[in-house]
Amino acid sequence: MLFGICFVLAVSSINCVHCLTCLYCTGIQSPRHCNYVKDCKPDEVCNVHQTTNAYGDVVFDVGCAHHSVCSNRTHGSKTCDSCCTTDLCNAAGCGMIGYPSARGPACYNCPAQITDGTCHVIDVCGSNEVCMINEKREFGDKVYTSGCVGLTHCELHTIDISQIIGRSISDHARSLTETVCHKCCHDDLCNAHCETVFCASNPCEYGTCINGKENYTCICDNSHTGRTCSVPIQSGRDCKDLRNVTHISGVYNMQPEGLNETIEVYCDMTTDGGGWTVFQHRFNGSIEFFRNMSSYENGFGDAHGEIWLGLKYIYAMTSNANSELRIDLIAADGSTAYEVFPNFRLSASPNYTLHIDQSNGTANGNLGLFYSNGASFLTYDNDPGGCADQFHGAWWYHMCSWSNLNGKYYAPGSNHDDGTVYHNFKGSESLKETKMAFRRI
Ligand SMILES: *[C@@H]1O[C@H](CO)[C@@H](O)[C@H](O)[C@H]1NC(C)=O
Ligand SMILES: *[C@@H]1O[C@H](CO)[C@@H](O)[C@H](O)[C@H]1NC(C)=O
Ligand SMILES: *[C@@H]1O[C@H](CO)[C@@H](O)[C@H](O)[C@H]1NC(C)=O
Ligand SMILES: *[C@@H]1O[C@H](CO)[C@@H](O)[C@H](O)[C@H]1NC(C)=O
Ligand SMILES: *[C@@H]1O[C@H](CO)[C@@H](O)[C@H](O)[C@H]1NC(C)=O
Ligand SMILES: *[C@@H]1O[C@H](CO)[C@@H](O)[C@H](O)[C@H]1NC(C)=O
Ligand SMILES: *[C@@H]1O[C@H](CO)[C@@H](O)[C@H](O)[C@H]1NC(C)=O
Ligand SMILES: *[C@@H]1O[C@H](CO)[C@@H](O)[C@H](O)[C@H]1NC(C)=O
Repeated sequence: MLFGICFVLAVSSINCVHCLTCLYCTGIQSPRHCNYVKDCKPDEVCNVHQTTNAYGDVVFDVGCAHHSVCSNRTHGSKTCDSCCTTDLCNAAGCGMIGYPSARGPACYNCPAQITDGTCHVIDVCGSNEVCMINEKREFGDKVYTSGCVGLTHCELHTIDISQIIGRSISDHARSLTETVCHKCCHDDLCNAHCETVFCASNPCEYGTCINGKENYTCICDNSHTGRTCSVPIQSGRDCKDLRNVTHISGVYNMQPEGLNETIEVYCDMTTDGGGWTVFQHRFNGSIEFFRNMSSYENGFGDAHGEIWLGLKYIYAMTSNANSELRIDLIAADGSTAYEVFPNFRLSASPNYTLHIDQSNGTANGNLGLFYSNGASFLTYDNDPGGCADQFHGAWWYHMCSWSNLNGKYYAPGSNHDDGTVYHNFKGSESLKETKMAFRRI
């Protein structure tokens, strides 16, 4: 691989150190319709010269020129001379409209085979197309074809180059031509060479790799672009931190402040602007929630499924910041409700007392979590014979409670006081899905 890259750099440095590729046509009506290109000399720039031809029409000559020429030519009433210094920039010279903004890349376009790899014709692709170059060996020669292709065609072609569709003629003696390289890329003129298939090393794990002229770009699943796209993208203190870098909900690594630990957390990046660290989620009863204080302190379950994150992590992630608490509920009949409580915090271990303000939402009122405001977190082993036992749960009980989201997971819709209930929403009906999350303000 290293050898390959060095070889390419060596070849291009022989041809030109810093040369521009410019449109190259004479007597055309509009520079952007010129399909021929030329590599300028190192001290040349792209040039447009507007003039009037023998029939009185305004026409353009486009090509390369020494930069001093542009400023020296005299400007008659209907002539213009302008220079510019980026590839193909003379498409828009002398105030002409240039290429439209909604377009695909300008690609080398030599669909018939050429042997030396230098193509002087270009085509401007459609917005859903990319540049392609194909290198084959024929009779010992390297031959190239290039042009615009649809992105899907390109992917298919790369994945399974041997796929053959059509009638089969039994001729095992026929040896197929050897395809040495097949490259697709999306930058202007990126299909000049075949050797530089930067994406071949598969650098974008969670995204699509696009070969550029000099390098590659990853178009990541989270709609960012960069050199890599690996999930977890990076770790943060909480999901609010990662909202900067991803809009995709999922499981990410977190390093809660003050704890020398990395934990997996499910981040909800879409609900009401995202950035929610999910600390309780139940949806099918696969995890037992009737557990002791040590389990509730350290957490149990799985960030990909049902989970209680752990009081010590919730405390670590909310104790130094102003956070809000959000509860989302889904009933057996599919109806939903939510509450958002401002100023959510817990007191330190061992009580983990709940502190919240009155909520906004569709299940607000006094017969919900707000009733538990100021209560300590109780489990069957730190409150034997108390509310945790009675309601088969672990919660902020204070003369018990009107909510019990860590209660027993009954068939959704059935009525049980010790089930997953939230009185403000569905009375003592067991809920189908419950989710609790916090977000730093
Ligand atoms: C352009 O003009 C400058 C000074 O005005 C002169 O030095 C230069 O040689 C001219 N270039 C050409 C190509 O005429
Ligand atoms: C591609 O770009 C990256 C960063 O911009 C650089 O580190 C790397 O060396 C480049 N690779 C090549 C082959 O040019
Ligand atoms: C996200 O942005 C905030 C505020 O701009 C910053 O404090 C925080 O460090 C950023 N987090 C990451 C992971 O970049
Ligand atoms: C953090 O944990 C690692 C491994 O568990 C340990 O090597 C390191 O010393 C710890 N750092 C601190 C500051 O406690
Ligand atoms: C709490 O439960 C866990 C898991 O069931 C168990 O390993 C642990 O010993 C229990 N702790 C106490 C204090 O009972
Ligand atoms: C519950 O959902 C989890 C995660 O989706 C799955 O692995 C598990 O099999 C489900 N359990 C039941 C009882 O449906
Ligand atoms: C913590 O809970 C215990 C009972 O479990 C109670 O006696 C104590 O007052 C509580 N502490 C605070 C600060 O609420
Ligand atoms: C909650 O609702 C009240 C009144 O309905 C409103 O004044 C307040 O701004 C809302 N708070 C939030 C955080 O949405």
